[in-house]
Amino acid sequence: MFRTFVTGVALATALAGSSLAATFSTLDGNLPLVIAHRGASGYLPEHTLAAYELAIKMGADIVEPDLQQTSDGHLVAMHDSTLTRTTDVEAKFAPRNGGYKVSDFTLAEIRSLVVEPTASTASNSYPGYTPTMANPFQVPTFEEVMQLVNAHNAATGANIGIYPEAKTPNSTAMNQKILDEMKANGFESRSDLAFIQTFDHAGAKELSDLQDAMGMDNAIAALGYAMSTVNGYGVYDAVAGVTNLLTDLALFADGVGVSLSSPGLDAGFIQAAHDLGLVVHGWTFNRADPASAYAQYEQWLDAGMDGFFTNYTDLAVDYLAAQVPLPAGLPLLAGGLGAIAVVRRRRRAA
Ligand code: G3P
Ligand code: CA
Repeated sequence: MFRTFVTGVALATALAGSSLAATFSTLDGNLPLVIAHRGASGYLPEHTLAAYELAIKMGADIVEPDLQQTSDGHLVAMHDSTLTRTTDVEAKFAPRNGGYKVSDFTLAEIRSLVVEPTASTASNSYPGYTPTMANPFQVPTFEEVMQLVNAHNAATGANIGIYPEAKTPNSTAMNQKILDEMKANGFESRSDLAFIQTFDHAGAKELSDLQDAMGMDNAIAALGYAMSTVNGYGVYDAVAGVTNLLTDLALFADGVGVSLSSPGLDAGFIQAAHDLGLVVHGWTFNRADPASAYAQYEQWLDAGMDGFFTNYTDLAVDYLAAQVPLPAGLPLLAGGLGAIAVVRRRRRAA
């Protein structure tokens, strides 16, 4: 059975403005976002509808699909540029152009594949969870991921978001397609809780410009590796091979997604980003052992990190739920309300 989880956003919303509200060192003072990295990829095959559904049930605030394009132009949720690591493609197809690039296969062909568990802690099932879709371990399209999220939000009143990553090289055509599909599926503004991310910082700027032209306003996150520079802090762009100062990124981006293992990532880096209005989301929280995972969440919560890309959504949610203190007066308040109810019942009975 699933425990009853309260997501960071839901908890912050419920407490906002009340005397129960807690303040954290994040940019907005709320709990960090729990970002389901490739879905609940620590438990189920990554980037599948089942992995996304499980993450949502575990209390993720937002789910992350990496995006690749098929040979016939469809966006699919997949991290690698090839099909070999995560699917049974080698058992079903001969190599094409010397390999198994996603971009060499049609969507119909990719649909015939089965995504297999890759994480050492993952399998094809999770205790207490039954996928609701017909093909839980098929490679999903980006649209199917959004439809899953939208269906959940419509059914529950939740506001689970999406965090698509345009995998590089992300052409203008790919960026435009991402935005077209987001718009068609109702992810148009930051109130829809959507971040669009990429390691290609020129591509991130292009996404921002394209959004402006389309009247869209989703948040943009530039991915990279924090590092100290002579003049301050930077985010190393692995693709361009250049250092982009945070001040440059802040001209168009809303946040940075930073490797937890990058030198220079510390509370000072996060504060420098916050000073520019940028949130900092760290990747990847992949510890399966609860005690070890909680220690890591604590370290980065204390440092002011605004979001955790995690393979183990449940551990992040558990940790954050425990950070909201119950007010000392709550038992007294509950007792008082109970006494009032008793008095009212007695008056009615009299
Ligand atoms: O998008 C954040 C993080 O996922 C980047 O790393 O390689 O897992 O996509 P990767
Ligand atoms: Ca990613």
